[in-house]
Amino acid sequence: MTQTTPVSSRNQRNVLVKAAADFVTKAMVDGSYRTFLPLRRIADDYPNAYFDRRGAQHKASVFCSNDYLGMSNHERVVAAARNVLDEQGLGSGGSRNISGTSHYHVELEAELAALHGKESALLFNSGYVANEETLGVIGKLMPEITVLSDSKNHRSLIEGIRKSGLKRVIFEHNSVSDLEAKLKALPADAPKLIVLESIYSMDGHFGLLEEVCRLKHRHNAMIFLDETHGVGVYGRTGAGVADSLGLAHEIDMFQGGFGKAHGATGGYVVGDRFVVDAVRLMAPGFIFTTSLPPLVLAAALASVRHLKQSNVERERLFANVSLLKDELRRHGLPVMDSPSHIVPVMIGDSFRCKSISDTLLREHGFYVQPINFPSVPRGQERLRVIVSSSHTEREIRAFVIALAHIIAATS
Ligand SMILES: Cc1ncc(COP(=O)(O)O)c(C=O)c1O
Repeated sequence: MTQTTPVSSRNQRNVLVKAAADFVTKAMVDGSYRTFLPLRRIADDYPNAYFDRRGAQHKASVFCSNDYLGMSNHERVVAAARNVLDEQGLGSGGSRNISGTSHYHVELEAELAALHGKESALLFNSGYVANEETLGVIGKLMPEITVLSDSKNHRSLIEGIRKSGLKRVIFEHNSVSDLEAKLKALPADAPKLIVLESIYSMDGHFGLLEEVCRLKHRHNAMIFLDETHGVGVYGRTGAGVADSLGLAHEIDMFQGGFGKAHGATGGYVVGDRFVVDAVRLMAPGFIFTTSLPPLVLAAALASVRHLKQSNVERERLFANVSLLKDELRRHGLPVMDSPSHIVPVMIGDSFRCKSISDTLLREHGFYVQPINFPSVPRGQERLRVIVSSSHTEREIRAFVIALAHIIAATS
């Protein structure tokens, strides 16, 4: 038997560093390397923020935030967080099981279950974890399920399905015929779970909920719906896209979050009481982590409650979205045909996309982050333009003129 010399820890570390350096260099060469822009958001001047350039502070109007309705700065939301900070301090102090359940956790879970018309809700530290952990537990509870997953599902859904260990069948994005063919190919009595999003965050497409609900009945399937980008923005009470279509009762389990329209952070699932309770008892990413701070939950609760009874923010958002889309089309820009509030402008090259974004910021004071691989496939790089309810008509028109000017100058 040949003896191998053990590799010293220093050498192992050198190998690790070399592998990381090779990866980073490759990303720089192929244009997928990411740079972050540190922002100082301005609470009473949303969607504007300061950023530093060469030691000086500049102001930018942000055109890529998921804070669609400006709720991160809403007076009720900020006051709720501030009061709880003063009353209870910052952290929750523990996992949900060990001293980290505040009465805000309980109140918010009850509010969410009622909002979606389901029996129970469970909070997670992010929407990502909510998807990953819940799907993981579903696989343990019912290993005989086959999951039918839309090909453009978010990474958190993909990882959750992988974690579940369930058999997975991928159907073409938003293709009802492909989904139906794949459902038909499965035994009629096999349990099935269709996993999809109500809005695909990089393209702005709606998931085909009416058709999927029809197929659900024809082929005896359950539905797990990610409403991350739908909650707050759609539906009379902000309950999301399925609710706006009168289909909430057809959805077996919803996932949502507070990081987008609610202007806070955190995620949740809602569904049948026993399923939610089993997730609570089984999901490692729920159990073994410090729970969300009460001040965040108080803010999220204020946001959910406000958007339940106020349409003002939604109306302003959709007026701005429609102005943005009209202006982009009028200037002949390569805007994707998106029916929702998410408005991607296709660029198709990572370096060009970054250069357009840099020029927009540097010369015009508009910030839109370039979206590159792995968020979108290579060659489909884009500017994911997000207008908020707080942008002014003037800002939107000026933004489109600047973008048109840069795109024309670089083509
Ligand atoms: C469709 C979808 N689901 C889930 C998530 C994760 O949500 P969170 O940011 O709360 O982790 C995102 C985040 O961007 C998303 O776009």
